[in-house]
This record gives sequence, structure tokens and C-alpha cells, in this order.
Amino acid sequence: MQTIRIDNITKHFGNLEVLSNVDLTIEKGEFAAIVGPSGCGKSTVLRMIAGLDTPTTGQVLANGSVIRDPGPERVLIFQEHALYPWRTVEANVAFGLELAKVSAAERRTRVDEVLELVGLSGFQKYYPHQLSGGMKQRASIARALVLNPEVLLLDEPYGALDAITRLTMQNELIKLWRGTGKTVLLITHDIDEAVYLADTIHVMSPRPGRIVRTVKADMERPRNRNSAEFVALRRQVMESLDIGVYSI
Ligand SMILES: Nc1ncnc2c1ncn2[C@@H]1O[C@H](COP(=O)(O)OP(=O)(O)O)[C@@H](O)[C@H]1O
Ligand SMILES: [Mg+2]
Repeated sequence: MQTIRIDNITKHFGNLEVLSNVDLTIEKGEFAAIVGPSGCGKSTVLRMIAGLDTPTTGQVLANGSVIRDPGPERVLIFQEHALYPWRTVEANVAFGLELAKVSAAERRTRVDEVLELVGLSGFQKYYPHQLSGGMKQRASIARALVLNPEVLLLDEPYGALDAITRLTMQNELIKLWRGTGKTVLLITHDIDEAVYLADTIHVMSPRPGRIVRTVKADMERPRNRNSAEFVALRRQVMESLDIGVYSI
């Protein structure tokens, strides 16, 4: 079943043409990635799927219906972890459930479940300032997951993390995706990250952004970043980005 369909959209902010004739389909349960140069409209695409913005022309659909508003079935996770500093980890994760008037008992069960899933069991009572960067990002992911969304939209989620934490988080994301069967759309400017994680990599042009190539990564997981297959996929993505980097 198809989950997300972007149907020939353009987007203008005043005179600025940000997106030009973007077409994109993400199937249910798929792990998709979008890579593209800074300012090409990646976050704009994601915000439209999240229901936080609308295209100038064309449509963005979820399961065949036009997306008009944000909803718990599609949640956005971004680089700035955006946890409330005055709330503990469990209170941060429970926040959306409080808004949805979920009972305290059920909140506790669901919060504990997702904290276990992201590897933060035992840190319920910690405040954000007592957590490492990776743990804060895990808490953000837990806060999204607790709403049981169908689609996870990640906008450069690991951009602020150090390289080693980043690799760990990538492995955790794969585990999470496999364990939950969610549809994932990851925006990244890290080509390796896209090739390591995604089933499908959509490459965007500089602004006005459009999809210049869709690369299918039919590779077993866990993927070996040094394998010939991996290097060939990375080359395909790099060539499509057209940044003149062909000597890998
Ligand atoms: N709300 C907005 N108003 C005006 N311009 C915007 C707005 N949001 C994004 N832009 C512009 O659209 C372009 C694409 O932005 P963005 O989608 O954030 O790019 P990316 O995520 O690929 O770096 C940028 O030039 C940015 O300045
Ligand atoms: Mg962005």
C-alpha cells in the first residue's frame, strides 16, 4: 500500500522558487532518504508531508488523501532535539499523550515501552541537561514514537552529533525501523548515511529543487561501507549530485 505521494508539486516563497515539479512516492514500510544540497528545499518537502506547509501547486497525499494538517500519524523529528528543559525525560515523552488526554496509567506504560525501545530505560527521571547529545536525540525519537505514528519524518536528525555517536544512532534507527515496520523518510546531506540506511535514495538538484535521480539500494543489512556494492551506490548518488566529486 502506498503511504506518501508527492504529486508534481511546486513551492514558491514570494518570488523565490524553492521546489519545481517534485514527484515522489514512498511506500508503506519503506525506508526512504532524500539527499540534496543545502537550501534545495528538503526541509520544505518534509514540512509539507508533516502538514506544516502546503505546496503552491500540486498535491501531497497520505494514503490517497490530501494532507492539510499535522496529525499524529506523521511526526517530524529534527536536529535540535527540542526537549523541554524543565521536564524530565518521561514527562517530555508523555507530553503528546497528555495533550491527547491519555490516562496517567496508560501514559506510564507507553512511555516506559518506547524508552525501552530507544535504549533509555532507567533515565525516566533525568532532565535534558543531564543527558548526552545522543541520549537527547533518543528521547526526541521516543517522544515521536509514543504517538505511534505510521510515518517518521527525520530532518537531519544526527547533524549535531559527533561522528561516532552518529554511527551508533544509525544502527539504532535501522533496528527500530525493522522492529516497528514504520515508514521512514530521512533527510540528510550525509551521502554515506543515506546509502547505509535507505532502501531508496532520492537525489535533489540545487534550488529550485527537483528529484534528479532515484537510486534503489537493494543491499543486505547490516551494510558494509567498504564493500564494492556500497561504494558503487555512493558513486551513483554523488554523480547525481553533480558536485564534481568522482574520485572516491
Ligand atoms: N517560510 C519560509 N519563508 C521564506 N523562505 C523560506 C521559508 N522556508 C524556507 N525558505 C527558503 O526556501 C529555501 C529552501 O529551504 P529548506 O527547505 O529549508 O532547504 P534545505 O532543507 O534543503 O536546506 C531556502 O532558500 C529558504 O531560505
Ligand atoms: Mg533543511
